[in-house]
Amino acid sequence: MSSRTFAMIKPDAVSRGLSGKIISRIETSGMKVVALRRILMTPAQAQGFYIEHKDRPFYGSLTGYMSSGPCYIAVLEGDNAQVKWREIMGATNPADAAEGTIRKEMAVDLEKNSVHGSDSAQSAAREVSYFFAEADIVS
Ligand code: CMP
Repeated sequence: MSSRTFAMIKPDAVSRGLSGKIISRIETSGMKVVALRRILMTPAQAQGFYIEHKDRPFYGSLTGYMSSGPCYIAVLEGDNAQVKWREIMGATNPADAAEGTIRKEMAVDLEKNSVHGSDSAQSAAREVSYFFAEADIVS
């Protein structure tokens, strides 16, 4: 069944000119990019987005990094989109990511890991609506 998920291309990938390559992988997988925007998050926006990690030791560094440069945010649509996008991204830590995944091939380190994807259907709904109105999404 077709569903939606939230995707983000992080500042390390945007600054190295990898955005087109990442979007191409999404499209090649059969998923559709149904919303896309370039943003520069404020620290407060990044803190709100990653609120579930607020007690983790990396929260300050992560939210500082995510507001340090432009990102692309997107909504992806397709069969099992949330699980499929996470498979294409690979493990959070590029050192653990499988061959052929975005993080294995492009990530710098655990923080600068090039891409983000929602980790559940519930997070996908929250993350999509954090940045996009329904009118921004065109199937
Ligand atoms: P992301 O999928 O965006 O979700 C949370 C982010 O925190 C993660 O990718 C990494 O960029 C970053 N991060 C930094 N340190 C850690 C850690 N020890 N465990 C998980 N995520 C981390």
